[in-house]
Order: sequence, then structure tokens, then C-alpha cells
Amino acid sequence: MRVPLLDLTRQHALVKGDIASRVARLFETQQFILGAAVEDFEAAFRDFVGCGHAVGMSSGTDAQLAILMAMQIGPGDAVLTTPYTFFATAGCIHRMWAEPVFVDVEKDSLNLDPDRLLEFLETRCTRGPDGAVLTPRGNRLRAIIPIHLFGTCCRMDEILAIAKRFDLPVIEDAAQAVGAEFRGKDGVKKAGAIGDSAYFSFFPTKNLGGAGDGGIAVCRDEELAARLRLMRNHGMEQRYFHREVGGNFRLDALQAAVIHAKLSHLPEWNAGRRRNAAHYREAFSKRGLGEFVTPPVAPDDGLENSHIYHQYVIRARDRDALMAHLQAGGIGCAIYYPVPLHLQDCFSCLDYKSGDFPVAEAASRESLALPIFPELRGEEIEAVADAIASFYKP
Ligand SMILES: Cc1ncc(COP(=O)(O)O)c(C=O)c1O
Repeated sequence: MRVPLLDLTRQHALVKGDIASRVARLFETQQFILGAAVEDFEAAFRDFVGCGHAVGMSSGTDAQLAILMAMQIGPGDAVLTTPYTFFATAGCIHRMWAEPVFVDVEKDSLNLDPDRLLEFLETRCTRGPDGAVLTPRGNRLRAIIPIHLFGTCCRMDEILAIAKRFDLPVIEDAAQAVGAEFRGKDGVKKAGAIGDSAYFSFFPTKNLGGAGDGGIAVCRDEELAARLRLMRNHGMEQRYFHREVGGNFRLDALQAAVIHAKLSHLPEWNAGRRRNAAHYREAFSKRGLGEFVTPPVAPDDGLENSHIYHQYVIRARDRDALMAHLQAGGIGCAIYYPVPLHLQDCFSCLDYKSGDFPVAEAASRESLALPIFPELRGEEIEAVADAIASFYKP
């Protein structure tokens, strides 16, 4: 049996009526740039996440860029993140002429390791005369970006406590975690409502995906939200009067209409992904695959959405050979991510070397994403597990 890594056509059947009528209404208004469709979606998304403000952007990348621009991060600054994420997280920092600083991830979640974070800040950074935290390269640390990778939140209580101690704002990279929940000392919150600000991606393959690129920036502070609106529209409040230099980071009204139509389905889709993850776990243990394959772990916090499985990433022995075997058998799978960011050619200027972040480097050698999309059928999951078992022959 062939099993695709992702098949969006199955989902489309469920939402195409609603999408068609929202898009038809939009065409009646001909208001394709910002306007009511974007504002309505922003309000619905803000309510869904439970955050103060939401500003629709042209992609997750642009949402992050707009946040960094709104915070006036630039040359001589640094932003801390992990080397195990999609390129954009560090790429945007670099594009602002700031230094991306990496700290390793935790072995199980592959999220920013708060212990390593504290160690880095305490032992590798110094304080400037004005109290600023300076990186080993002498740049001024301006923010921390933890990534809720693959759909589960970082250990945010620890990260927020460290950030507070060093007076650093926290920008959540929630691109892969729309609808994920976190139980912290202040109660249960959704990804994006935990730190000072956050960004999401609506890339079509995301749990909430558009019909093209899209993203959104969210934040607690009204002043930052106003600056985000300014940044996404060339720094102009009044047309053709530019207070600052921004960009064209506007969320398309058409995308807003499509994503809005899908938003109410997200909880059931995330539940479908969780169901599939539970099925995989059972299928692996039934076949005695425990010693070869380590499934992803969700925090044991009693929350339904503690993992929303944007990707279902296993750690696999002899990963590359397993991947070749699965692909030869028509099973879709992919590596997220084959080269950690500190070893990417474009960041050779940062002088990191192999061995600097052993957990991230091991993850890039062992990780393999399997099909997990909500509409995946039980027999397809069994077929994936059979194909894995036929490789290891336990
Ligand atoms: C962790 C992470 N950060 C940032 C982004 C950037 O989002 P986009 O592709 O919408 O620009 C993505 C999406 O691909 C992502 O997975």
C-alpha cells in the first residue's frame, strides 16, 4: 500500500463549501488588501489563541521579521534560539543584521533546553556597563526565541523565569504549534499566549494551512501590536506618509478567508493527529519495534492538546537505510532537519563547528517524520508499521 506523507485533498472535501462561499463573498466586495476579511480572521484567531492582539502577515517568516523590526533589533544585537528548527527562525535574525546565538535542545522534545539556556547565560555571557547581556561575540542579547517544535510547547515556565532574570523578552516560534496547550504555573495557555509575542505560519502543510503563504504575529502589548501593523505596511499609518521603514508583510484577504473557514475545524484535526499518534505507538509496540524506533513523547500534563503532532517524528536506528526502504515501498517520510542550523554553509561566519550542539546533531542523524495528517486511515498506519517492521525484522 502506498501511503503519502501528507494528502491535503482529503481535508479539502470537508471545507470546500465554506471556503467557496467566503471567497465568493470576498470577490463581491473586491477588497483584497486588508479590510474586513483580514480583520475578522485576526479577531477569531486572537480569541482562539487567547492572546491580546493578532496581526495577519504574509508568512510566518514575515511575521517573525515584523516582530524583530518592531522591536528595533539590528546590528550589534543578538537573538538566542536553537539550531534545530526550520531555517527561517535564524534566517530572520541574520536578515536584521543581528547575531543568531544557538543553545542546544532537549533530547526528548527537541525543544530549547532551559538548563543549557541558563548555563549559556550564566557562564558564556557577560554584562555590559548598562546591564545589557552581552554574547561571547560582544553583541547585545535582545530576545529569546523558543520554538515549539513539531507541535509541543517548550518548558516555558523555566524559560520565562530565566528570561525574567536576565530581562529578556520571549518571542515564541509557534509556527508548528497552532492549538497546542501548555500547563504552567499560571494555568493552561495556548502556544502563542505564553511569552511576550509569537508568530504562526499558515503554510499549506501546517495544521492550519492556507491556499498559499500566510502567517500571523500575536502579542500581549498594545504598543507592540501598533508597531507590527506599521511594519507590515511600509511603516505608514496614513497613506504615503512613512514614519519608519517597514515592508509589505500583509496577509492576503483571500488567504484570511480560506484560513478562517478552516479555523473551526482545527480542534478536530488536531484530535485526529493525536489519535494517529496513539495508533502508531500501539502498532510499534505490537510489532516489538521498541529497541529500533523511539516515538515522540507528549508531556505528561493531562492536557488534550499537549502535543498536536504537526510532524510525527520518530528517532530511528539506521535512519537513512530505513528511509530508503520506506520510500522504495511507497511510504512517504521526510527528515526534519538534515543539517542543524549552526552547520549550514550560510552561517559559517558564526564560527560554530560540528560537536557544538550534540543533541541537535544527533537528532539530525536519527529523526524521521512519518505520515500523521488527520485523515490518515487506520490501515495506512498499520501499513507504515509493517514496512518499518519488515526493515528491522524484530
Ligand atoms: C519552526 C518554523 N518557524 C518558522 C517558519 C516559517 O513560516 P513560513 O514558511 O510561513 O514563512 C516555519 C514554517 O515553515 C517553521 O516550521
